Order: sequence, then structure tokens, then C-alpha cells
Amino acid sequence: MPVHTAIIPAAGMGTRFLPASKVVPKELVTVVDRPIIQYAVEELVRAGITNICIVTSEGKEAVTHHFTSNTKLETALREKNKHDLLEEMLKLNGLADIYSVTQNEPLGLGHAVWVAREHIQDDPFVVLLPDELLDPSENFLAEMIATYKSTSTSVIAVDEVPHESISSYGSIDPEPGTGDSMRVKALVEKPDPSVAPSDLAVIGRYVLAPEVMNILESVKPGSGGEIQLTDALAVLAERGVLVAQRYRGRRWDAGTKLGYLQATAALAFDHPELGPDFRAYLEQIQMVSTHA
Ligand code: G1P
Repeated sequence: MPVHTAIIPAAGMGTRFLPASKVVPKELVTVVDRPIIQYAVEELVRAGITNICIVTSEGKEAVTHHFTSNTKLETALREKNKHDLLEEMLKLNGLADIYSVTQNEPLGLGHAVWVAREHIQDDPFVVLLPDELLDPSENFLAEMIATYKSTSTSVIAVDEVPHESISSYGSIDPEPGTGDSMRVKALVEKPDPSVAPSDLAVIGRYVLAPEVMNILESVKPGSGGEIQLTDALAVLAERGVLVAQRYRGRRWDAGTKLGYLQATAALAFDHPELGPDFRAYLEQIQMVSTHA
């Protein structure tokens, strides 16, 4: 069954990122040369997704506007013969079929996914949390979709995190095994490290069977008093139909100040045009700091 639809939850208030996110939605904060939401959409497009539903909240409409045509800008670029920029802007408008739904109340990630249910119908779908930036030179999501297709089982991405950090994530209880794909026996949202089933953290990439929407319908508020996607996935785990796939590439939590800085530095370092000058600059400031 083809997987062509994705949901990007982007309704949160971004409190971990204040004051930057007071007026500018955190998804529109720039990493190197593009906003975080663009990395998310480009990752989905690389994995073959053609329909993208962005869940926003009141005041965050600009997140979706990043992908709609700006006639005034396009006309100005055309008149000034800035063809490369014009082409880039037109490409952005045509990346995918992008639309939005509004989450009217901040009831949690599970609820944010559920408000997009009408766009899913009876098809499998991807959920991508844009704060979590995965290395753009990889295509892990395509691998997850391939696993979904070959197993007909929902797939979530996990990464090993330091033990004390597991309380910031969903933690999985994997079936023993050796490979990077493992069946999930149970799942806990933001556990205290002393009771976490493992240090394998859910990292915001999900390929889900449509039944998840029905399960979300009856999920009760959990961690933080919110309707958690993790709690719906725990039902799949109980039924034996949830697989975790381990991501081994570079990953940054761009929703935190330090993670954001790390993503910016790493991606600027690799950038085809800016990289050489940026690397030279890093060397220069390192020399200054060692001599200070
Ligand atoms: C969400 C999920 C959590 C996951 C995390 C990844 O939490 O609920 O299971 O591990 O994203 O970043 P949030 O960070 O939105 O509180």
C-alpha cells in the first residue's frame, strides 16, 4: 500500500525556544539558510510523500504560507532578472500538496495528529515532528516506509540517548534481538530514568497504520495531562503490531537552544556554498580562543 500522506504537528507554543519563538513560530526559525519547517517538508518529499498536512494553531498561519506562492515577490525577482532565486521560490511552492488544519486547543501531540484525521481516510500515514532534525543527506524515512510496506506493521524511529535524557522522550521496551529493527512490547511517554524500559528514545518519525486514528479517539490524557501519541502506539505494541527502527545518523533536537546551535553549526559546516568559509571561520575563532 503506498504511503503518500504526512502530518506535521506544528501547533505548539515553542516555550523551550523563547524568546525567539514569541512572535516567530519556532518552525520558521532559520537553520543556516532555510526555516526548520522546510527541512521537514524536504525530508518528506525525499521519501516520496506528496500530501502534507501541517497542524497549526491560531497565529501560526505563516508556517504554511512559507510554501504558498508570493506573487509580488516572484514578479519582483522576475523584473530584476534574479532567475536562480525565482526558480528556487517556484520550486518551494511546488514541493508537495501542502495544506493546514488548526488545532484549536493545546490538548497534546496525539490530539494534534487526530485533528488531521479527515485527510488520512483509510491510508497509512507518516507523522514527522519538525523539531527533530535528521541529517538531510540521509533518507531514513524512506527506509521506514519500506519496512512498513514489507511488514504491514507500524514503524517508529528510535535512537539511543544518554540514560538521564530519556525522561524527555517516549521510551520503548524492545523485544530482545540483534538487528536495527525490533518489535516493540511496550512504550512509555517521558518516564523517570529509574523506570524507563530502555534508553531507546522515540525521535519523531512515525509510519502509521490508519487504525491509529481510531485508537486516538479513545486515548485518555496521559503524561503532562495531554493526549499522547505514545499512548496510542502503546495499544499497537500490546497488539504486537509495532516495530521500532534504529536511526544511526546525525540528529539534532532543534527545539532546544543547544540542539539548535549544534544543528546550525553542523549544517553550516557541510553547506556546499557556505561550508568552506564557515570552516575557515571556525578555525579562526578557535585559534583566538586558545590564545585568549
Ligand atoms: C514528543 C513525543 C515523544 C518523543 C519526542 C521526540 O514529545 O511525545 O514521545 O520522544 O516528541 O522529540 P515532545 O518533545 O513534543 O514533548
